[in-house]
Amino acid sequence: MQAIVDQEYVRQHAGEVIRSFGLMAYVRSLRTKNKGLLEQLEEKYLSSGIAMPGKLGNAYRLSALIELRVALIYEHMVRRFDENPLVRAFFQKLQEEEQEHARVMVLCLYTVDAQTKLDYVPGVLDPEIRTLLGKLRALARGVWKLSLDQALDLTEELEASEVNVIFDKLLEQTRNPKSDFFISQLAKVEGHAAAVPKRIKALREKLA
Ligand SMILES: [Fe+2]
Repeated sequence: MQAIVDQEYVRQHAGEVIRSFGLMAYVRSLRTKNKGLLEQLEEKYLSSGIAMPGKLGNAYRLSALIELRVALIYEHMVRRFDENPLVRAFFQKLQEEEQEHARVMVLCLYTVDAQTKLDYVPGVLDPEIRTLLGKLRALARGVWKLSLDQALDLTEELEASEVNVIFDKLLEQTRNPKSDFFISQLAKVEGHAAAVPKRIKALREKLA
Protein backbone atom coordinates (compact mmCIF):
# COMPACT_ATOMS: atom_id res chain seq x y z
CA MET A 1 0.00 0.00 0.00
CA GLN A 2 1.60 3.21 -1.16
CA ALA A 3 -0.75 6.14 -0.85
CA ILE A 4 1.96 8.76 -0.49
CA VAL A 5 4.96 9.33 -2.76
CA ASP A 6 7.70 9.00 -0.14
CA GLN A 7 11.46 8.52 -0.52
CA GLU A 8 11.18 4.75 -0.69
CA TYR A 9 8.73 5.05 -3.57
CA VAL A 10 10.96 7.55 -5.36
CA ARG A 11 13.97 5.24 -4.97
CA GLN A 12 12.04 2.26 -6.30
CA HIS A 13 10.67 4.21 -9.28
CA ALA A 14 13.73 6.30 -10.13
CA GLY A 15 13.31 5.99 -13.93
CA GLU A 16 9.66 6.97 -13.86
CA VAL A 17 10.30 9.96 -11.56
CA ILE A 18 13.23 11.22 -13.66
CA ARG A 19 11.28 10.84 -16.91
CA SER A 20 8.28 12.70 -15.48
CA PHE A 21 9.90 15.46 -13.42
CA GLY A 22 13.62 15.53 -14.29
CA LEU A 23 16.86 14.49 -12.63
CA MET A 24 16.99 17.51 -10.30
CA ALA A 25 13.57 16.73 -8.81
CA TYR A 26 14.71 13.14 -8.23
CA VAL A 27 17.98 14.13 -6.52
CA ARG A 28 16.31 16.86 -4.45
CA SER A 29 13.67 14.44 -3.34
CA LEU A 30 16.23 11.94 -2.05
CA ARG A 31 18.06 14.71 -0.19
CA THR A 32 14.96 16.14 1.47
CA LYS A 33 13.81 13.75 4.14
CA ASN A 34 11.00 15.77 5.72
CA LYS A 35 9.01 16.41 2.53
CA GLY A 36 7.59 14.03 -0.04
CA LEU A 37 8.16 14.44 -3.78
CA LEU A 38 4.72 15.91 -4.43
CA GLU A 39 5.11 18.48 -1.65
CA GLN A 40 8.42 19.60 -3.13
CA LEU A 41 6.98 19.80 -6.64
CA GLU A 42 3.98 21.71 -5.32
CA GLU A 43 6.27 24.31 -3.69
CA LYS A 44 8.22 24.67 -6.92
CA TYR A 45 5.11 25.17 -9.08
CA LEU A 46 3.43 27.52 -6.60
CA SER A 47 6.49 29.78 -6.55
CA SER A 48 7.38 29.79 -10.25
CA GLY A 49 4.86 27.79 -12.27
CA ILE A 50 2.09 28.97 -14.58
CA ALA A 51 -1.33 27.74 -13.51
CA MET A 52 -3.91 26.73 -16.09
CA PRO A 53 -6.33 29.67 -16.34
CA GLY A 54 -10.10 29.61 -16.77
CA LYS A 55 -12.65 26.96 -15.97
CA LEU A 56 -10.19 24.10 -16.39
CA GLY A 57 -7.77 25.54 -13.84
CA ASN A 58 -10.61 26.33 -11.47
CA ALA A 59 -11.82 22.73 -11.61
CA TYR A 60 -8.45 21.52 -10.26
CA ARG A 61 -8.40 24.27 -7.63
CA LEU A 62 -11.86 23.25 -6.58
CA SER A 63 -10.96 19.58 -6.28
CA ALA A 64 -7.84 20.50 -4.27
CA LEU A 65 -10.05 22.58 -1.97
CA ILE A 66 -12.47 19.67 -1.50
CA GLU A 67 -9.59 17.30 -0.68
CA LEU A 68 -8.26 19.81 1.87
CA ARG A 69 -11.70 20.14 3.48
CA VAL A 70 -11.77 16.36 3.91
CA ALA A 71 -8.20 16.46 5.29
CA LEU A 72 -9.40 19.07 7.81
CA ILE A 73 -12.21 16.76 8.97
CA TYR A 74 -9.63 14.01 9.57
CA GLU A 75 -7.31 16.48 11.30
CA HIS A 76 -10.15 17.27 13.72
CA MET A 77 -10.71 13.53 14.20
CA VAL A 78 -7.03 13.16 15.18
CA ARG A 79 -7.54 15.72 17.92
CA ARG A 80 -10.97 14.40 18.91
CA PHE A 81 -9.61 10.86 19.50
CA ASP A 82 -6.18 11.92 20.64
CA GLU A 83 -6.16 9.64 23.69
CA ASN A 84 -6.41 6.44 21.59
CA PRO A 85 -3.12 5.78 19.73
CA LEU A 86 -4.65 3.34 17.20
CA VAL A 87 -7.48 5.69 16.27
CA ARG A 88 -5.19 8.68 16.24
CA ALA A 89 -2.77 6.95 13.85
CA PHE A 90 -5.65 5.84 11.63
CA PHE A 91 -6.99 9.38 11.15
CA GLN A 92 -3.50 10.86 10.92
CA LYS A 93 -2.78 8.60 7.94
CA LEU A 94 -6.07 9.52 6.27
CA GLN A 95 -5.32 13.20 6.80
CA GLU A 96 -1.89 12.84 5.16
CA GLU A 97 -3.38 10.93 2.24
CA GLU A 98 -6.04 13.60 1.64
CA GLN A 99 -3.34 16.28 1.71
CA GLU A 100 -1.43 14.25 -0.88
CA HIS A 101 -4.60 14.06 -3.03
CA ALA A 102 -4.87 17.86 -2.84
CA ARG A 103 -1.24 18.11 -4.03
CA VAL A 104 -2.02 15.87 -7.00
CA MET A 105 -4.77 18.30 -8.03
CA VAL A 106 -2.46 21.32 -7.57
CA LEU A 107 0.19 19.61 -9.71
CA CYS A 108 -2.43 18.88 -12.38
CA LEU A 109 -3.35 22.58 -12.29
CA TYR A 110 0.26 23.47 -13.19
CA THR A 111 1.02 20.67 -15.62
CA VAL A 112 -2.19 20.06 -17.56
CA ASP A 113 -1.97 20.55 -21.31
CA ALA A 114 -3.85 23.64 -22.54
CA GLN A 115 -5.40 21.50 -25.30
CA THR A 116 -7.03 19.15 -22.82
CA LYS A 117 -10.75 18.89 -23.42
CA LEU A 118 -12.64 17.97 -20.30
CA ASP A 119 -16.14 16.53 -20.45
CA TYR A 120 -16.49 17.13 -16.77
CA VAL A 121 -15.57 20.57 -15.38
CA PRO A 122 -17.03 21.15 -11.91
CA GLY A 123 -17.29 24.78 -10.84
CA VAL A 124 -17.50 26.40 -7.43
CA LEU A 125 -20.86 27.96 -8.36
CA ASP A 126 -22.53 24.65 -9.32
CA PRO A 127 -25.37 24.11 -6.82
CA GLU A 128 -24.27 20.55 -5.97
CA ILE A 129 -20.68 21.70 -5.41
CA ARG A 130 -21.81 24.55 -3.14
CA THR A 131 -23.89 22.05 -1.18
CA LEU A 132 -20.93 19.69 -0.91
CA LEU A 133 -18.54 22.42 0.27
CA GLY A 134 -21.07 23.63 2.86
CA LYS A 135 -21.60 20.07 4.06
CA LEU A 136 -17.86 19.45 4.45
CA ARG A 137 -17.47 22.67 6.40
CA ALA A 138 -20.32 21.72 8.75
CA LEU A 139 -18.90 18.21 9.21
CA ALA A 140 -15.50 19.60 10.19
CA ARG A 141 -17.18 21.80 12.81
CA GLY A 142 -19.24 18.89 14.19
CA VAL A 143 -16.42 16.39 14.73
CA TRP A 144 -16.15 17.24 18.45
CA LYS A 145 -19.64 15.85 19.12
CA LEU A 146 -19.07 12.48 17.45
CA SER A 147 -18.59 9.14 19.15
CA LEU A 148 -15.90 6.90 17.67
CA ASP A 149 -18.55 4.76 15.98
CA GLN A 150 -20.18 7.81 14.42
CA ALA A 151 -16.80 9.13 13.29
CA LEU A 152 -15.97 5.86 11.54
CA ASP A 153 -19.42 5.74 9.90
CA LEU A 154 -18.94 9.29 8.70
CA THR A 155 -15.50 8.41 7.30
CA GLU A 156 -17.01 5.55 5.32
CA GLU A 157 -19.74 7.85 3.98
CA LEU A 158 -17.24 10.53 3.01
CA GLU A 159 -15.05 8.11 1.09
CA ALA A 160 -18.08 6.73 -0.79
CA SER A 161 -19.29 10.25 -1.66
CA GLU A 162 -18.84 12.46 -4.72
CA VAL A 163 -15.57 13.79 -3.22
CA ASN A 164 -13.65 10.85 -4.68
CA VAL A 165 -15.69 10.84 -7.90
CA ILE A 166 -14.69 14.44 -8.62
CA PHE A 167 -11.00 13.68 -7.94
CA ASP A 168 -10.99 10.49 -10.06
CA LYS A 169 -12.81 12.06 -13.00
CA LEU A 170 -10.52 15.09 -13.13
CA LEU A 171 -7.39 12.98 -12.88
CA GLU A 172 -8.56 10.55 -15.57
CA GLN A 173 -9.21 13.37 -18.04
CA THR A 174 -5.80 14.98 -17.49
CA ARG A 175 -3.65 12.96 -19.83
CA ASN A 176 -0.03 14.09 -20.08
CA PRO A 177 3.26 12.48 -18.98
CA LYS A 178 3.20 14.18 -15.59
CA SER A 179 -0.37 13.35 -14.70
CA ASP A 180 0.22 9.84 -16.05
CA PHE A 181 2.75 9.50 -13.25
CA PHE A 182 0.06 10.30 -10.66
CA ILE A 183 -2.47 8.06 -12.39
CA SER A 184 -0.08 5.11 -12.51
CA GLN A 185 1.02 5.72 -8.93
CA LEU A 186 -2.55 5.96 -7.67
CA ALA A 187 -3.67 3.01 -9.81
CA LYS A 188 -1.30 0.82 -7.79
CA VAL A 189 -3.16 1.88 -4.68
CA GLU A 190 -6.66 0.66 -4.17
CA GLY A 191 -8.91 3.74 -4.36
CA HIS A 192 -9.97 5.28 -1.07
CA ALA A 193 -13.61 4.38 -1.75
CA ALA A 194 -12.70 0.68 -1.73
CA ALA A 195 -9.76 0.65 0.70
CA VAL A 196 -11.06 2.80 3.57
CA PRO A 197 -14.03 0.54 4.51
CA LYS A 198 -11.59 -2.38 4.81
CA ARG A 199 -9.23 -0.29 6.94
CA ILE A 200 -12.15 0.75 9.16
CA LYS A 201 -13.21 -2.88 9.56
CA ALA A 202 -9.66 -3.86 10.55
CA LEU A 203 -9.51 -0.97 13.05
CA ARG A 204 -12.87 -1.93 14.57
CA GLU A 205 -11.64 -5.51 15.01
CA LYS A 206 -8.45 -4.34 16.70
CA LEU A 207 -10.41 -2.11 19.05
CA ALA A 208 -12.99 -4.78 19.96
FE1 LIG B 1 -9.08 12.14 -1.35
